[in-house]
Amino acid sequence: RLGTLLDSHGRPHDYLRISLTEKCNLRCRYCMPIEGVKLTPSDQLLSAQELYRFSSLLVKNAGVQKIRLTGGEPLVRREIQEIISDLNSLRDDGVKQIGITTNGVALSKRKAKRLRDAGLDTANISLDTLEPMKAEFITRRSKDMHYSVMKAIENSIDAGITTKINCVLQRGLNDDEIVDFVKMSKDLPITVRFIEFMPFNGNEWAKGKRFISLREILRVVTSEFGEVEHQRGERSDVAKNYRVPGFAGNFGIIGSMSQPFCSGCNRVRLTADGMIKNCLFSNEKDDLDLRKYLRDSSISDDELLTIVRDHLQHKKASHGGMEFLEKTRGQNRAMTSIGG
Ligand code: GTP
Ligand code: 5AD
Ligand code: SF4
Repeated sequence: RLGTLLDSHGRPHDYLRISLTEKCNLRCRYCMPIEGVKLTPSDQLLSAQELYRFSSLLVKNAGVQKIRLTGGEPLVRREIQEIISDLNSLRDDGVKQIGITTNGVALSKRKAKRLRDAGLDTANISLDTLEPMKAEFITRRSKDMHYSVMKAIENSIDAGITTKINCVLQRGLNDDEIVDFVKMSKDLPITVRFIEFMPFNGNEWAKGKRFISLREILRVVTSEFGEVEHQRGERSDVAKNYRVPGFAGNFGIIGSMSQPFCSGCNRVRLTADGMIKNCLFSNEKDDLDLRKYLRDSSISDDELLTIVRDHLQHKKASHGGMEFLEKTRGQNRAMTSIGG
């Protein structure tokens, strides 16, 4: 397509991930430090108008087709519905998919329906355990929240939103629930995805002590269900997807650490405070201060796009693997202020 955002490794970038806020109503151990993260003053967060201007530019002139809203927790941002409607107005210009990655706590029946009507196609809901007491430990918040999340899955499906579950696996914590999670896809039309635990600033990485690999996860599943069908996907997919024969839904495994998918990377990331991160694992000092340019009235749309294209040329071929990430952990933000 004309104007495609290509990096210096020839990868087309047609997927924009926008973090709407650094705030979150949970305190998951693998995502942020117990004290939370330093919140950016609200006048330094990108406004709904700024987000629209930038998204519109990338859709109309750079071939972006898929936009995902993340956080923190994107549903705590008050203008969430307005932001989705704005993006929905770009359908004729090339938007094919609008998604959200949420912890589900605030995804009531009514909210799900409203967001669907505004144009939301997909929701990836984070759920790491089926046990309320364990949820309380992982999220450092009351187990009542867990009930809301379980309900959110139902609300999302009922509203006609394509629904996935994201489950970050940690040895000794929730690895005994792998089979139960896969069983959720027996009758529900959902994708259950297991995510390899990744090291970030301020999370409880503990030198990889709790890390479980894609291969190991797959072994647990096949020893329970027998051979599973591998489903072919796109080059840019982060998950390897499988189906237990006869199940309504399917399951996937995101092997970010053991089987990185960087060669198919199509993602541009915009943080809530307006920085462009070329990579989930990029050093904070390499991020582009887009906000500065967005707020400079002498910078035109064309110039803005050139700045983004130029920045993308510095994107590395891959993140450098497990050892590299452990070593450079302090040079990146906490996951919650990147947006995943
Ligand atoms: P789909 O469009 O449904 O495939 O969503 P997604 O997987 O792109 O997004 P989601 O926010 O649900 O992310 C799921 C997991 O994949 C999270 O743990 C992300 O951090 C991880 N992930 C997403 N994009 C990347 C990436 O570019 N690199 C790496 N290493 N992990 C990523
Ligand atoms: N490793 C892997 N995935 C993580 N997520 C948050 N922190 C980590 C981590 N350290 C997941 C969330 C959410 C998605 C955006 O990223 O559970 O589903
Ligand atoms: Fe892309 Fe970086 Fe993720 Fe690799 S780790 S897939 S380069 S964002």
